[in-house]
Amino acid sequence: MTARTDLAAHLASLDLPQGLVATLMTAAAACVEIRQVVAGGALVGALGASGAVNVQDEEQKKLDVIADDLLTEALLACPAVAGVASEEKDTVQPSANAAGEYLVLFDPLDGSSNIDINAPVGTIVSVLKAPSAQPSEADFLQSGRQQVAALYAVYAGQAMLVLTTGKGVAGFTLAPDGRWLMTHEDIRIPADTKEFAINMSNQRHWAESVQRYVDGCLKGADGPRGKNFNMRWVAAMVADVHRILMRGGVFLYPWDKREPNKPGKLRLMYEGNPMSFLVEQAGGKSATDGKQAIMDVIPTELHQRVPVVLGSANEVDQIAAA
Ligand code: AHG
Ligand code: MN
Ligand code: MN
Ligand code: MN
Repeated sequence: MTARTDLAAHLASLDLPQGLVATLMTAAAACVEIRQVVAGGALVGALGASGAVNVQDEEQKKLDVIADDLLTEALLACPAVAGVASEEKDTVQPSANAAGEYLVLFDPLDGSSNIDINAPVGTIVSVLKAPSAQPSEADFLQSGRQQVAALYAVYAGQAMLVLTTGKGVAGFTLAPDGRWLMTHEDIRIPADTKEFAINMSNQRHWAESVQRYVDGCLKGADGPRGKNFNMRWVAAMVADVHRILMRGGVFLYPWDKREPNKPGKLRLMYEGNPMSFLVEQAGGKSATDGKQAIMDVIPTELHQRVPVVLGSANEVDQIAAA
């Protein structure tokens, strides 16, 4: 095999603060452990429900809890981490580290409904600077623009880790020796696409503009868009976004009228912001139902939801104009 740059060497080349490197290496190592549990499946008791309901009002799976515990424990033990926040926990958890400099927010296991069917799942991580070493919940409520790093790991045929620290996007594949080796040096999202991703079963609940946009795609070459579209929906944002980073496309989880006061299903701090940082760094766009950049949203609540439209830049513009 050709000699490849591993994650540690890549981070060393970026001239980042030591504490940030330590935080990212800790998160990446926890993703390797999560990958091992995912790969073990039924053999290691990783399938099925935990019996509890989380703060999002979702039935927790055993793997949601296992992944949350692995990440939380590893990150709170990293001296550079001042605190963590998780999709699976009601409140933030400050660390006991006197010199903690970073806040880490995560979706420990994205795509919970895929666990029991052996379909792709992943982990999504967002890193912010900590205003103080004893952070309060308010310290976590920073906009996506304040992120210093974002990454996801996708556990599929291969395990891959995709990372940005604000200098482009690089992709790593998990090698048998447990190292993340760089396989995708500078990921770019093409500006144009003929592929969209949305849960079509919610069509009747969407806003008019989203109805118009999807209708235009479905009309194909004879319709207003003048081209035939393909549709994909993995039901794990991490895998849908990974596809978009690999070959373009657009992903929508829009506002819908089932829960008008909860704008969309996805969470700003654990899903919307880190994925938007990666997508923008790869030359794509990311916006709430087309217009406001997701990373410009000023958070008011830790578990706040946000409508998500992201992917190929020209297609996101089409949705904004629909
Ligand atoms: P999570 O498993 O972290 O709760 O997130 C699931 C999200 C996201 O990954 C995915 O795009 C979406 O839920 C799927 O929703 P539907 O079940 O409506 O397709
Ligand atoms: Mn969930
Ligand atoms: Mn998720
Ligand atoms: Mn999750």
